[in-house]
Amino acid sequence: MPDNLTWFITGTSRGIGLEFVRQLVAEPTNLVIATCRTPDKATELNDLKSGAKGELHILPLDTSSMEAIEGVVGHVQGILGDRGLDYLINNAAVNLADDRAFNFKPDDLLKTFNVNVVGPAHLAQVLLPFIEKSQKKFILNFSTGLASMGLDHEPKAATYSISKTGISMLTHKQAKTKPELTVIAVDPGWVKTVMGGAGALIEPAESVEALLALMARSTPAESGKFFTRTGTEIPW
Ligand SMILES: NC(=O)c1ccc[n+]([C@@H]2O[C@H](COP(=O)([O-])OP(=O)(O)OC[C@H]3O[C@@H](n4cnc5c(N)ncnc54)[C@H](OP(=O)(O)O)[C@@H]3O)[C@@H](O)[C@H]2O)c1
Repeated sequence: MPDNLTWFITGTSRGIGLEFVRQLVAEPTNLVIATCRTPDKATELNDLKSGAKGELHILPLDTSSMEAIEGVVGHVQGILGDRGLDYLINNAAVNLADDRAFNFKPDDLLKTFNVNVVGPAHLAQVLLPFIEKSQKKFILNFSTGLASMGLDHEPKAATYSISKTGISMLTHKQAKTKPELTVIAVDPGWVKTVMGGAGALIEPAESVEALLALMARSTPAESGKFFTRTGTEIPW
C-alpha cells in the first residue's frame, strides 16, 4: 500500500508548480495544499479539482509577504488537523531580468531575494512544526545550475543567480540544523515554462516526473546536497 502523504507547494498557478499539482492529485493517497498569488486567476489549477483523485486544497500565498506566510499557518492547521506535512516544495520564484553584475537594478536584487530566498526560508520556519510531525520530513528547494560556481555559467542572469545561491546555502544550513529532515536543492533542468522560455529543452511533465522519483529515493543521507532532477550531484 502506498503511503498517505501531504504536500505544500508554492507557485502553482503555472509551470513546474502547476505540473507538480497535476501529477500529485492523480494519486488518491496524496493531500495537496497548492498555493499561488491569485487563485481566482489560476484557471488551470482550479480545473485540476474536477479530475483530482487525491485531495486538493488551493490557498492564496504571495511568498514575498511575510505576513501572508504567517497567515497561512492557521489554514494549514485546519486542513491537516493531526497530520504532519511530509513535503514542502519551495517552487515559486522570479527572474526579473537577464542582468549583469555591474548593471543590475539594486531594487531588482532586493525583490528577487525576497521572493526567492526570504520567502522560502520563512515558510520553512513557520511550517517546521508540521514537517517535524510527518513521516517524510522533506523540504525541496528550487535552485538552478546558474547558481553553481562550480559549473561556471559566467556573467548572465546576475540577480537571479545571486538569489539562487542564497537558497542553496539555505538548504545547507537547514540540513545541518535538523539532521532528521531531508532538505535538498534541485535544478529541474531547462524547462519549457514562462521562466524557461520556448527554447527550453524539456516539458514540465518530464522534469516533475524525475523530481518526484528523486524525492522518493532521497533520505537524510542526501540532505544538504544539490542535485540535477535525475540525481547527479551539482557542485556548489
Ligand atoms: N524553467 C526552467 O528552465 C528553470 C530552470 C532552473 C530553475 N527553475 C526554477 O524552477 C522553479 C519553477 O520555475 P518555472 O519555470 O515553473 O517558472 P514560471 O513558469 O515563471 O512560474 C513561476 C511561478 O512562481 C510564481 N510566483 C512568482 N512570484 C511569486 C510570489 N511572490 N508569490 C507566489 N508565487 C510567485 C508564479 O506565480 P504568478 O502566476 O502569480 O506569477 C508562477 O506560478 C523556480 O524556482 C525556478 O527558479 C526553472
